[in-house]
Amino acid sequence: MLAGARVSPEKLRDDIRAVKARTDRPFGVNFLIAPPGEGNEDVESVQRFLDRFRERLDLPPGETDVSLPPSPLPEQLEIVFEERVPVLSVALGDPGELVERAHDEGALVSAMVTTVEEALRVVERGVDVVVAQGAEAGGHRSTFEVGPGGDVPLVGTTALVPRVVDAVDVPVVAAGGIADGRGLLAALALGASGAQLGTRFLVARESGAHPAYRERLLAGVETDTLVTHVFTGRPARGLRNHLAEEYLRDGPEPLGWLLHSAAAGDIYGAAKAADDGDYSPLLAGQGLGLLGDEQAAAEIVEQLVEEAGNALSRLEGRGL
Ligand SMILES: Cc1cc2nc3c(=O)[nH]c(=O)nc-3n(C[C@H](O)[C@H](O)[C@H](O)COP(=O)(O)O)c2cc1C
Repeated sequence: MLAGARVSPEKLRDDIRAVKARTDRPFGVNFLIAPPGEGNEDVESVQRFLDRFRERLDLPPGETDVSLPPSPLPEQLEIVFEERVPVLSVALGDPGELVERAHDEGALVSAMVTTVEEALRVVERGVDVVVAQGAEAGGHRSTFEVGPGGDVPLVGTTALVPRVVDAVDVPVVAAGGIADGRGLLAALALGASGAQLGTRFLVARESGAHPAYRERLLAGVETDTLVTHVFTGRPARGLRNHLAEEYLRDGPEPLGWLLHSAAAGDIYGAAKAADDGDYSPLLAGQGLGLLGDEQAAAEIVEQLVEEAGNALSRLEGRGL
């Protein structure tokens, strides 16, 4: 699955062609489809709070006339369809009429959900695959409608997956906290047709995670993450760091989704460039502690399959 979010249309086309040059097998392109969200409208209050982080990074005070550029999504989608990408994958919202458009273009559609209600809604739209995202998952919660103060349901993978499997008649992919072969086997036992892993691949050699981020991932354990909307205005699970803890303790309500990241973008960019793990979101799930060493992504996949096979043999050995 290729990431489409935050990728320019030109780069997206190059990425798609690079995948097609390497394989004839199916792949997808993924987008976060939530439109700009509601949040604190007092940009000044957020920027003046964020200035404390800017001071530590030698950045000038934040601008208050923050605006969002037009969404690149329509252009990105045209590229996906023109390039005949086999699967369109969406998260963070109801794909609505996009499903019919994708089908007309010959693409299958996968949508990520966090409740049975959302699963039923996307299946009614005609999606071909449902990704059931449990509360353990790293990254943004795919909840369609976020409540006041960033409130979202947090249903664990073990409870969510079988409920979604029973509710829908399309293949279900399990996501959230799966970081080794035992987790993969468990997902299959719950009725999932596959598993979607994020955090495990953050420490792959090919990952774009900067060195300080990797170090914290490899040193982290299952209690080191939290779900908060102070990173981007939309709830996401990430590592506890200064940014998360200080903002939660002293900060104002964040701006809306997309606008908040735009306002804090100078801080996040500077922290990443300085390889500083404290002042940018370090998204990660509860599978920390299970990540093993840095490996190539292909080796991780091979290892997962081998471990799942071993776990299955152990169960068979016990007569299960
Ligand atoms: C750093 C990071 C970035 C992510 N970016 C996306 C994304 O762009 N689109 C998406 O659908 N899901 C994204 N996810 C969430 C994954 O789809 C998935 O729900 C999650 O990684 C599964 O849980 P795990 O991290 O415990 O494996 C991201 C997750 C992480 C950790």
